[in-house]
Formats: sequence, structure tokens, C-alpha cells
Amino acid sequence: MASPLPKVVFTAPVSEMPNDLLDGRVWVKVLRHKLPLTEEQLIAKLKNASGALCFLSDPLTGRVLESCPKLKGVALHAVGYNNVDVAAASRLGITVTYTPGVLTEATADLTWALILGACRRVVEGDKMVRAGRFKGWDAGLLLGMDLRDKTLGIVGLGRIGQAVARRAIPFGLRVAYAQRKHADAAVEAALGARYLPLDDLIRESDILSLHCPLTIETDHLLSRERLFAMKPGAVLINASRGPLVDEAALAEALETGHLFAAGLDVFEREPEVHPALRRIPNVVLMPHAGSAGRETRAAMARMAISDLLAVLEGRAPKHPVPRTEG
Ligand code: GLV
Repeated sequence: MASPLPKVVFTAPVSEMPNDLLDGRVWVKVLRHKLPLTEEQLIAKLKNASGALCFLSDPLTGRVLESCPKLKGVALHAVGYNNVDVAAASRLGITVTYTPGVLTEATADLTWALILGACRRVVEGDKMVRAGRFKGWDAGLLLGMDLRDKTLGIVGLGRIGQAVARRAIPFGLRVAYAQRKHADAAVEAALGARYLPLDDLIRESDILSLHCPLTIETDHLLSRERLFAMKPGAVLINASRGPLVDEAALAEALETGHLFAAGLDVFEREPEVHPALRRIPNVVLMPHAGSAGRETRAAMARMAISDLLAVLEGRAPKHPVPRTEG
């Protein structure tokens, strides 16, 4: 017999199922597909659902949302919502929520793992030792970039950008940033962060770390021209969204030695990774795991599910995505 409870589909499992929140309130189906799902697969799975818990790889396009007439709410288990057609959702009366704030510190920690890993060649060193290629101490072995007195350039001084900047202080880095508007004077003062126009930041940074959302304007923000305008020997870090960077041009900038290293948690066509990036030794690669702290992931699931239940029960969710025009 069909359940009288609203039907909710999770497009993949969450790390910890908060049954205490869900029991008796909704009927949940958890898909166990390999992500990413195609638009057709999403439509087939969501067309009879009232609510969906979705992930950053789900293509929640206008076509998908229009094909799911029962859908009232989509809770995105992510802070970036570039995979959702927010304008179509608001036109169709579908509330979309996301998980801001709760993953800030974990993502900043992972960004720093990439910074340290790339600057000090941690992955190369690990591979060398495991392969039995460590033949004794050598003053010239695996020389990397010292951090003290270098400039860390942050593109996007939002929640995560600021958390990355805070961690730079004890390392003795100078912090500069670019974004559309100046940050508050109090934020600049607390971080010792200097505002620069984007192209100046790109030219001056020893380490450039991307923390802006992916939009039409920021797609390939780091174009070939800008990658080659970076300071020779600089390091690029991306823990935001892959398409911010022209990946083929990045591989070229690394292979030609223009850039010293890169640390990447995200890729242009996930889960594909440009073959040259897999080959080049001075690139630290992570499988889009910025928020993958145990407590953080549990908190993301609880936040997303609480908001979805609010929508389905006729209450205002706490974390609706900001509305876009259209
Ligand atoms: C991760 O990339 C997120 O947007 O949560």
C-alpha cells in the first residue's frame, strides 16, 4: 500500500542518516547510483517525489525541474548551487535550500592541506619514500616554496575565503584579495587583507586560491591569459569549482614550468581529470572532498534534511538559496 507520508528521494546516501529527524515524517528512498546522474535519470527518479535531497553533481536544470510536477522542495547538500536552475525553481514554486556556514572551516582546512601539500611537495615526497627512492638526506632534495613573507591572493573573500585568510596569519603570509566589492573595513583589518583588482592580484600573488562561486561571469575566470599572467613560480589552489580554471591551460602552465605547483580539489568535468594533470608530479589532486570532515558532513545532512522537512511541512526553511532574477 502506498505510504500516506510525503515521498522524498535522496539522489545518493548521506554519510550519516539522521533517522531521529526523519522517522514518521516522510517516506525516504535513497538511490544507490554511481553519481553523477544524467538529467533523464534524475527525472525518472524524482518525477513522483515531493522532496529531493540532492548533491552538487545532480544537474537540476529547468528541464528536470519542469518534469517533476510534484516537487515542492530540493535540499542541496552543498554550499555551491551552480548545478541548480534557481530561476526555474522559483518560477515553478520549488523551494531550493543549501548548506552555508556549516562547511566553512572544513573547506578552509582542506584548502590549507592543498597549499602546504603543493608548496612543500608532500605528495611527491610520499611517493618517493614509498617507491624506495629516498636514498639519504640531501640539501637539495624536494625544495619547495617557503610561506613566510609570501603573498596569498584570495579570489572571493566570503565565508570560506576569510577562513582561509585567518589560517594564513600564523604562517606569516601577507593576504590580499579580489572580489566584486571591497570587504568590510573590520574584516580587512582583522585579516590584514589588502584589496586588489583581480588582474593585479593575479600578477602579485605567490599563492592564488579561488573561493568564488561558479557563475556565467566566473566560468574560466582563470583563462589561459590570466594563468600565464600569474607570477612565474606561483602556486594555484582551487577548492571551489573546477570550471573557474581553464584546465588544459593550467596543465600547460605547469608543464612549461611557468607555475611551480597546483593544489586541486575540483575539476572542470568531474569526475574526469585532465590527463596531463594526473601525470604532472607537482600537482596535488583531491576528489572534491573539501567538506569531507566527519562532523561537517553529518551537520550538512542534518541542515539539508531539516530545511527539506520545513518546506514539506509548510514552514519557512532556514537556508533558502539566494533568489536570482528571471
Ligand atoms: C562543495 O563543493 C559544496 O559546494 O558544498
